[in-house]
Amino acid sequence: MSNSSWGFLLLVFSAFFLNLDAFELRKGQKTERISGSAGDVLEDDPVGRLKVFVYELPSKYNKKILQKDPRCLNHMFAAEIYMHRFLLSSPVRTLNPEEADWFYTPVYTTCDLTPNGLPLPFKSPRMMRSAIQLISSNWPYWNRTEGADHFFIVPHDFGACFHYQEEKAIERGILPLLQRATLVQTFGQKNHVCLKDGSITVPPYAPPQKMQSHLIPPSIPRSIFVYFRGLFYDVGNDPEGGYYARGARAAVWENFKDNPLFDISTEHPTTYYEDMQRAVFCLCPLGWAPWSPRLVEAVIFGCIPVIIADDIVLPFADAIPWEDIGVYVDEKDVPNLDTILTSIPTEVILRKQRLLANPSMKQAMLFPHPAQPGDAFHQILNGLARKLPHDKSVYLRKGEKVLNWTAGPLADLKPW
Ligand SMILES: *[C@@H]1O[C@H](CO)[C@@H](O)[C@H](O)[C@H]1NC(C)=O
Ligand SMILES: *[C@@H]1O[C@H](CO)[C@@H](O)[C@H](O)[C@H]1NC(C)=O
Repeated sequence: MSNSSWGFLLLVFSAFFLNLDAFELRKGQKTERISGSAGDVLEDDPVGRLKVFVYELPSKYNKKILQKDPRCLNHMFAAEIYMHRFLLSSPVRTLNPEEADWFYTPVYTTCDLTPNGLPLPFKSPRMMRSAIQLISSNWPYWNRTEGADHFFIVPHDFGACFHYQEEKAIERGILPLLQRATLVQTFGQKNHVCLKDGSITVPPYAPPQKMQSHLIPPSIPRSIFVYFRGLFYDVGNDPEGGYYARGARAAVWENFKDNPLFDISTEHPTTYYEDMQRAVFCLCPLGWAPWSPRLVEAVIFGCIPVIIADDIVLPFADAIPWEDIGVYVDEKDVPNLDTILTSIPTEVILRKQRLLANPSMKQAMLFPHPAQPGDAFHQILNGLARKLPHDKSVYLRKGEKVLNWTAGPLADLKPW
């Protein structure tokens, strides 16, 4: 880009900021609701619309694992634990399985962390299989549908494919025993082997109290145009480059590292959360998986998420108007990111900010404890309620079997 066009850009940029500041001073933190399906669905109350039966499993499937490594309460897959706790005391819980619409199996398959705190899903298939064997032999409900009225929380990178590398995850496919169940997962990418039709895509877990404690007054102007902190390359796992983030993060760095509109680096400052509240746009590019906790952070901190992950399926996409609150940029268009973002009209930016300021949008991204109306737990229940009643075809005839209990890699068949 020539120097003169840079000058022009900066001029546009500062004019744009004067506008924004003026607006914020005039109106303070304005919020806006989307009427019609999206905004209203977010505020639905699931109580009375479904009943969930929680299987009681030996504690080795859940509580004991957590006792061994309490760090599992804070990593981005912790929703599997909090959902269990939430359901135990939720008014949608029924103690009578005969009247249940949905069955839930509390199994913490991601709570197996390396010393560095990275969740390894290698034991998950055996553990899951063991839990399903247990519920199918101790209760009659699994065999009725072979899991079609059961849901599982599988928040790993590639959900129930149980691997963090995409190629391997694809090779494995969804665990055969879960092929009829409804999966509640963070992974969402259209037409991907690891995203089963009818899955409920949820946000990753981000610590609500911690984020709350970093809030700054909304009157502080957003003086950063584009913000991003994180990896651009993953040299350890992708030495040649191009595989990690399909090259999109590398393209961000190579094109914009010297661009004054872009505040991007690999450093993780202590003011990370505050910085997001001082930014207009927060980049949310894919990493190894299409999503990252940045998506949640951007919404909580009112920074317009710039979603760079082709074919991503976003959390609660049937309830949250992602098109209205965020900006989608195709991976191939990353080199034009500056032009794309600077040419968004100010009114459009202000509207996105007002929608992001709507508390119901933020609430839906969080798994708070105790739970609150409209939070992610409630959105999951709403999603399950919208699937009712179950189609009659899910109930198998007496003696009918659909699932193959010996399918999948041999190593997965070993007892857990
Ligand atoms: C469900 O089916 C499996 C075999 O397909 C059988 O071993 C098990 O006993 C059945 N469960 C019940 C409760 O009858
Ligand atoms: C079940 O899967 C195993 C392993 O892939 C295969 O050998 C077997 O033939 C399958 N059984 C049926 C009934 O399809």
